[in-house]
Amino acid sequence: MTEEEKEKQFQQRIDAGEKIEPRDWMPEAYKQTLFRQISQHAHSEIIGMQPEGNWLLRAPSLRAKKILLAKIQDEAGHGLYLYSAAETFGIDRTEMIAMLHSGKAKYSSIFNYPTLTWADMGAIGWLVDGAAIVNQTMLAKCSYVLYSRAMIRICKEEGFHQRQGYEIIAKMMNGTTAQRNMAQDSLNRWWEPSLMMFGPHDSESTHSKDSMKWKIKVESNDTLRQRFIDRTVEQAHHIGLTIPDKNLKYNKTTMHWETSEINWDEFWSVVKGNGPCNYQRISHHIHYHNEGKWVRDCATAFEKSREKENSSISI
Ligand code: 3HC
Repeated sequence: MTEEEKEKQFQQRIDAGEKIEPRDWMPEAYKQTLFRQISQHAHSEIIGMQPEGNWLLRAPSLRAKKILLAKIQDEAGHGLYLYSAAETFGIDRTEMIAMLHSGKAKYSSIFNYPTLTWADMGAIGWLVDGAAIVNQTMLAKCSYVLYSRAMIRICKEEGFHQRQGYEIIAKMMNGTTAQRNMAQDSLNRWWEPSLMMFGPHDSESTHSKDSMKWKIKVESNDTLRQRFIDRTVEQAHHIGLTIPDKNLKYNKTTMHWETSEINWDEFWSVVKGNGPCNYQRISHHIHYHNEGKWVRDCATAFEKSREKENSSISI
């Protein structure tokens, strides 16, 4: 078959709703955009551990500390699944980490904001994991079977992450005036960056057209963002929080909450490396990646010795 015929047959499989396995033929461009998105998703999971790790030693109770520790460990596991899925495109983790360290690969802009108070642990769980759930339940329908399977597993854990975050914020809204103000301040700082997690508007999105054609995305950035806004505004009002947007209004005809335009200058500035914590996040990752080199060397040496042992036994 010619390349053209293979691409035609591939698109017919996608249109028929078939799942693509790692060993199936796929267009180079399909591989590229999946590798880009999955590896950046993996980086986001790992870098996303830092803002929350910042509060592990300052959690207000042993229960809160245990929950936060469990959540952070989950994120490491999510990164592991996703790096493994990305490696099926023939690029190993060492290379992916080098792309992250060099700035060649991105991670979600949301993690470049500082976590200033305990309420931010609530806002991250409620808003960031809440946005991730909306996006990832869609990605669970992705045509590339390994990404879809990873999402199904990850979404189960995101449910716990979102609920524990909302519990933190709800408790604070039931607390002292200082705690209520802390919770509102946190929402004020995390609301717009969490809307940015869904990416640019569909009309500005470089990859959405292809991603939709190949059913990597089955719903658009704006559709998912609106779904997140509609559910989160109700959750905020339910516990007495005010959404920090003077133009927020409910449209009875569309039955959607309408919001102000996102500050896309801020979005692109943070994506391009000029956010409050970009430098800190990457230098932290580089420092501890290098410090952990001996663990990787030991694991590799052990693997090699085991292979040598097995090959001598088989003779
Ligand atoms: N942060 C950083 N970069 C972003 C971004 C964001 N919030 N939104 C978009 N971008 C980048 C894209 O990567 C792309 O740049 P690139 O070509 O250099 O990769 C460019 O902006 C154009 O955006 P597009 O809409 O064309 O790109 P996509 O089709 O890839 O859509 C996306 C963007 C919706 C973020 C998509 O990549 C996606 O769904 N990624 C997987 C989900 C993910 O990464 N979530 C991040 C959070 S992980 C998390 O929350 C963990 C939780 O447990 C805490």
